[in-house]
Amino acid sequence: MRAVDIIVKKRNGKALSKEEINFLIQGYTQGIIPDYQLSAFAMTIYFQGMDEAEIAHLTSSMVQSGNQVDLSRIRGIKVDKHSTGGVGDKTTLVLIPLVAAASVPVAKMSGRGLGHTGGTLDKLESIPGFQINLDDDTFINQVNRVQCAVIGQTTNLAPADKKLYALRDVTGTVENIPLIASSIMSKKIAAGTDAIMLDVKVGSGAFMKDMASAEELARTMVAIGAHVGRETRALLTNMDQPLGCHIGNALEVKEAIQTLQGKGPEDLRDLCLTLGSHMLQMAGAKEDTRVLYDKLEKILAEGKALKKLAQMIEAQGGDARVIDEPDRILPQAQFMIPVMAEQEGCVHALNALEIGQCAMLLGAGRETKEAKIDLAVGIVLHKKMGDWVKRGEPLATLYANDQQKGQLVQERLLKAYHIAPEQTAGKPLILGLVDQEGTHMMS
Ligand code: URA
Repeated sequence: MRAVDIIVKKRNGKALSKEEINFLIQGYTQGIIPDYQLSAFAMTIYFQGMDEAEIAHLTSSMVQSGNQVDLSRIRGIKVDKHSTGGVGDKTTLVLIPLVAAASVPVAKMSGRGLGHTGGTLDKLESIPGFQINLDDDTFINQVNRVQCAVIGQTTNLAPADKKLYALRDVTGTVENIPLIASSIMSKKIAAGTDAIMLDVKVGSGAFMKDMASAEELARTMVAIGAHVGRETRALLTNMDQPLGCHIGNALEVKEAIQTLQGKGPEDLRDLCLTLGSHMLQMAGAKEDTRVLYDKLEKILAEGKALKKLAQMIEAQGGDARVIDEPDRILPQAQFMIPVMAEQEGCVHALNALEIGQCAMLLGAGRETKEAKIDLAVGIVLHKKMGDWVKRGEPLATLYANDQQKGQLVQERLLKAYHIAPEQTAGKPLILGLVDQEGTHMMS
């Protein structure tokens, strides 16, 4: 086999075999096939696409390029959750203890974030002492004891994806559904859980800007799951405005705690209960998701999920006093800068991407992998879509450690709000569900 012949075959629009895909991916991981041939390969996929079987082979080949986590020593059916990413997305921090409190084990490997704010690991690290590097035995024992753990991804998980993603990033081949779907699913499959719950975001603050591409991505990932025998479902959720009201690492931890205390924003709470109800069903619960939603609601109201978060923080060396005293334990920004409405009216739009970029300018996110983030800074929104605001009322508060940056962001954030005189309703958050039977749109 020669790499060039496989590239030409794909360039001419033909479907590749499992062996051909394996040849390229394993050869590339081992350094035998050079970057320039894989770049050309990625570009042919960008223009010619891949069928379902090819995408599944590509995913499996990337899974096999490294280690696969063995979670068989954890009792019960393990369900993982993954979000395609958005602004203010702190779902994992609420969902993991919630599902664990319902006796479904969650052994989660998370990543750091590139972009607006950090990833789950950065957020958790804003809790003093929290350890994200646990060895396999400690990780597995903790899940058996506490029902949940969140750790950093081990370096050898789908190394082909890591190498290929870095190449795609500089060759204009990131925005392609077969490549995105196989990239995400290879890491989830290698992480060893039995089932996978996806949250595919759609809107201005998401990777997928329109519903058709979000649905296609969701369908592609669900089909990959079916091919490799891991049940996969995907919720399609709106990301035209941020999720919840807090954006920034420590601020998002605080909002997650508030949500577990029953004092959080409704959109975040509803999303966690919905994702959780599907996770319970995939873990073997026989009830309807509506019944499971109610069951999780009760667990939340009884404070069991909050207690579970405290147990997980303690087990991973973190300061669990954060639950009762978040402002004392979490890093705090020096300056709080209000952003006032310049006119009365209703919030018609709240550009999630723009708000994410504002958070990034304050220092909450990293532009390069090596950049350091400021865990304390961020934005708290007081008004979201559908809310009425009077002139001079605060729309948001900026948490900054640099006054000059704060002032710059103040002006920019104001422009992210579109306020108009007519009352309008907010947009629904949950737009649809994709499972093995197809797409079910929520009306
Ligand atoms: N996230 C991933 O993990 N891979 C992609 O290709 C895009 C987003």
